[in-house]
Amino acid sequence: MSYKIAIVYHSAGGNTKALAEAIAALLPTAELYRINEFELRTLPDYDALIVGTYTWGNGELPAKSAAFYEELEQLPITSLKTGVFGTGETNYNHFCGAVDHFRDMLFAKSQLLVTLKVEQMYQDSDLDRLRKFASLFHN
Ligand SMILES: Cc1cc2nc3c(=O)[nH]c(=O)nc-3n(C[C@H](O)[C@H](O)[C@H](O)COP(=O)(O)O)c2cc1C
Repeated sequence: MSYKIAIVYHSAGGNTKALAEAIAALLPTAELYRINEFELRTLPDYDALIVGTYTWGNGELPAKSAAFYEELEQLPITSLKTGVFGTGETNYNHFCGAVDHFRDMLFAKSQLLVTLKVEQMYQDSDLDRLRKFASLFHN
């Protein structure tokens, strides 16, 4: 059976979407989903889950990411490999706070491999970090 990876992202303005697409391009077998398109009941089919989100409020998860987080943390994901990425803005007090929230939960509940925070729209100068992130999901 092949190694299955789902990339599930939430983006309002497009920054996190662009980052998700760039990561997906580095993992050609991965399936890319918007957060409201991914059915968590299919999660047992996957070896790895990569979650992407922007940050809202004061370092908080946007509503759709929070709903996904709450459902995900109830599931038996002990052996699932996971990663988290996000975009934010460093002029807020808690840069990419939503990434930290997912990181803490997935570190406790799953096999968290890596996290990645990017300032707004990723740049060419971020590509090395994107490649390192993706390389951890190559099998
Ligand atoms: C009302 C509001 C609150 C925000 N709060 C934060 C924050 O606390 N931390 C952060 O890093 N970025 C924060 N941001 C910035 C967004 O996370 C950032 O622009 C992100 O790249 C948007 O992603 P998207 O284009 O995928 O929607 C905030 C933006 C807005 C409009």
